[in-house]
Amino acid sequence: MTDVLPPVQSLPLKRSSRFDPPDDLKALRERGPLSRFSYPDGHLGWLVTSHAAARAVFADQRFSSRRELQHFPIPHPFVSGEMPPADPGSFPEMDPPEHTRYRKLLQGEFTARRLAHLTPRIEKIVADQLDAMEEAGPGADFVRTFSLTVPSLVICELLGVPAEDREQFQARAHVVAVASMDSTPEETMAALGALQEFVHGLVLARRSAPTDDLLGNLVRSGELTDEELTTIALNLLFAGYGLTVNMLSLGTFALLENPAQLADLRAEPELIDNAVEELLRYLTIIHVGPTRTALEDVELEGTLIRAGETVTLSLPSANRDEERFERPDELDFRRQGARSHLSLGHGIHQCLGQELARIQMRVAYPALLRRFPDLRLAVAADEVPMHDELAFYGVRELPVAWGAASGGA
Ligand code: HEM
Repeated sequence: MTDVLPPVQSLPLKRSSRFDPPDDLKALRERGPLSRFSYPDGHLGWLVTSHAAARAVFADQRFSSRRELQHFPIPHPFVSGEMPPADPGSFPEMDPPEHTRYRKLLQGEFTARRLAHLTPRIEKIVADQLDAMEEAGPGADFVRTFSLTVPSLVICELLGVPAEDREQFQARAHVVAVASMDSTPEETMAALGALQEFVHGLVLARRSAPTDDLLGNLVRSGELTDEELTTIALNLLFAGYGLTVNMLSLGTFALLENPAQLADLRAEPELIDNAVEELLRYLTIIHVGPTRTALEDVELEGTLIRAGETVTLSLPSANRDEERFERPDELDFRRQGARSHLSLGHGIHQCLGQELARIQMRVAYPALLRRFPDLRLAVAADEVPMHDELAFYGVRELPVAWGAASGGA
């Protein structure tokens, strides 16, 4: 059936409501798990919309992550034509055995046990940003005062960025990883160059005096060149920063718009772990890709995917698949099996920083609700500006209010 229908001409990105994926994705999913998809560069590949098929592609190493084999599902802001192979250290865009080598070196730094020592630091960072919000007063933009700062300071902790360099690091990281929609390509490239230079400096400093942190440990392993270490550190920043910012902002918006779930979470704080999984599922902020390219002919759900064809996995669609989740369009913090969402991927490339992302959300949402028991939007919900032009969906600004004096929406 999929072969006789005309190919999908562009990846549906416009959400049908603040929190719901585009209706077009649902229509495609109802037609079948895979649709022919015409990529912006003219390549004819596939769009996967069911949970089962997306999970199967993630788990199947006949589908490659190699950068040079991928076609972009939306027009790329900087690249036209073929991509060169990934730089040494850019392991998210590699396959085994190269990917395995890097992943093994890094995995130990990202276990729940190893990250536990960061939790008190994250609690302090969150408390400081809540102070900053209080100081800014009702009407404060939650994105600027809170969500942009928390993940960038956490990455500074992870990489061991010295206190005196943090402000500059954050400003550049912000341009590169989050605000590229508001910056010109020249500004983004300039900030990227400056960041690269700064991170390279951090690596050199660790070489001469290794510390007991992520970069220090990687230096001590003796396995990686300075170039690889710099690229790895930048990859962690790019992979982790913008997504966590948007989960904090959009998650807070969703909490405020779902008062029954919010009341449950206030009454039963132990719901937080499941609430975080359900927010990851329900909001699915990655709405472009990931992509994989078939290394050989593969039959998937009765459809032949030919060697060389790129497959785009629609995570917003997979996470609302009624075959996998009952009442998929409801936010339900008591949902059984919420954790089987695909928002953090699956298989060998499953999110390396997932525990770090979870800790930030598990600390931030409850602390926010405790500090501002009557937190509310300071504008009408439909006036909250959203962005869907990046690889992830999110909130541009989230004006919030609390206390009796200032009105809410
Ligand atoms: C809520 C926030 C986050 C979301 C939704 C998210 C989502 C994802 C997804 C879906 C993948 C798989 C991509 C693929 O298979 O092609 C991934 C991989 C990755 N993520 Fe995250 N991520 C988040 C936070 C973080 C953080 C905080 C870090 C680190 C500081 C991080 C580091 C990585 C890395 C390094 C990879 C590549 C892993 C590999 O290729 O082996 N992520 N993430």
